[in-house]
Amino acid sequence: MPTRNSPQRTCLSIILAAGEGTRMKSSRSKVLHEVAGLSLVGHVAKAAQAAGSGDIALVVGRDAGAVKTEALRVAGHVETFEQIERLGTANAVLAAIGAITRGYDDIMVLFGDTPLITEDALGLARAKLAGGAAVVVMGFRTETPTGYGRLIEKDGQLVAIREERDASADERKIKFCNGGLLAIDGDLALSLIAPINNDNIKGEYYLTDIVEIASSRGLKVISLEVDETLVLGVNTRVELAACEQLWQQRRRKELMLGGVSMQAPETVFLSHDTEMESEITLEPNIVFGPGVYVSKGATIRAYSHIEGAHIGANAEIGPFARLRPGAELGEGSKVGNFCEVKKAKIGKGAKINHLTYIGDAEVGAKANIGAGTITCNYDGFNKFKTVIGEGAFIGSNSSLVAPVSIGAGAIIAAGSVITKNVPDDAIAFARARQSPAMGDAKAKRVLLASLKAAKKP
Ligand code: UD1
Ligand code: MG
Repeated sequence: MPTRNSPQRTCLSIILAAGEGTRMKSSRSKVLHEVAGLSLVGHVAKAAQAAGSGDIALVVGRDAGAVKTEALRVAGHVETFEQIERLGTANAVLAAIGAITRGYDDIMVLFGDTPLITEDALGLARAKLAGGAAVVVMGFRTETPTGYGRLIEKDGQLVAIREERDASADERKIKFCNGGLLAIDGDLALSLIAPINNDNIKGEYYLTDIVEIASSRGLKVISLEVDETLVLGVNTRVELAACEQLWQQRRRKELMLGGVSMQAPETVFLSHDTEMESEITLEPNIVFGPGVYVSKGATIRAYSHIEGAHIGANAEIGPFARLRPGAELGEGSKVGNFCEVKKAKIGKGAKINHLTYIGDAEVGAKANIGAGTITCNYDGFNKFKTVIGEGAFIGSNSSLVAPVSIGAGAIIAAGSVITKNVPDDAIAFARARQSPAMGDAKAKRVLLASLKAAKKP
């Protein structure tokens, strides 16, 4: 498949996800836990695809079915391989031998629990392969290297990776660590992995031994230094939260650089797929669920919760607005405080400003929906649609009992319960008329006071 980074080269990404993930204390596989609403393995598969992996091989162990389903959902076509016994990362890669032997120019080995890896970093690794490297290792420098494999260099050349347990005291002082992600020349991959043995303290087949093997054969082995945050792995829910925070920071920054203003960026929570045009203003404390698109010039005020919604140009949302899946807001429309909109098309310039529920509906351009309007869309069994015509005016505290349509330019009297269609330009009045002479308030008060006094002992 042609790719952005190296147009002529084919690429297979092998995503390792056979780990137990016991430290998550979860009945779900670790890689199904989410960052920004997308599974960890989903993030990895997306980055691999974006970097030009035409094929993805997923190596799974426990809970394989759910992991496979998720990878397929995100990446379209993914081949799954089962690692029968968890014998180490080299053994896990060989579980995907059926894919490897098909022949690829580039093979990338990624971890399913390392969700912050980017298309750019993977692209850079592939470019090194295209430049003649046999193996590219993603490394990072840290003041706290404990637990990581160390990158051993000799005369500026990467010659080995030593796992913490097997490292000498001197080697443990090295602060240049293995991020875990590797890119391997596809023609050499099998010949480099096959000789790996489990002659180490843990008795596992370490993929990292590939470096020593390649280097002893005089092949070009390169370390690609990346920021530690790109290769951060998730083992506990604490690390999951740390990844979430880093992901959010990264995406907020991208959006701000793209023309989105945020008064308090750290309080805006984005979804993995939130898309925004420019000249958008976001007030503090806004949560975006999946599937949101915000068009140019829109303003979203504080404390709004938005998912599955398309927000048109110059629309104004909130404060305290809730947009649910299927909300489509036209250009310049307004959805104000304590309003909920679900599966509804709101026309250009329409206003829904206060305390309203609009669900399963179409609201015409420039319609004005008064405070407290409710579309009664559900009878306990089925959902029904409400259609409100262009320029209609719905008086406050009206209930529109669906299925029902309000004609263009119609006026609904406040407090109406509308159960029948209203023609264009008609005035509908559907509430009890106020009786003008119910009595005398002063006399009523005297009566009530005397009754209360009579009760006292
Ligand atoms: C690995 C690296 C280490 C690096 C660190 C970075 C090896 C041998 N070591 O160590 O150099 O510093 O990552 O985080 O690669 N897996 C399987 N099957 C197995 C074993 C592992 O699928 O039999 C998967 C795990 O699910 C995980 C990944 O491979 O996604 C890495 O395994 P893990 O046990 O986390 O390796 P580390 O000890 O962290
Ligand atoms: Mg790990």
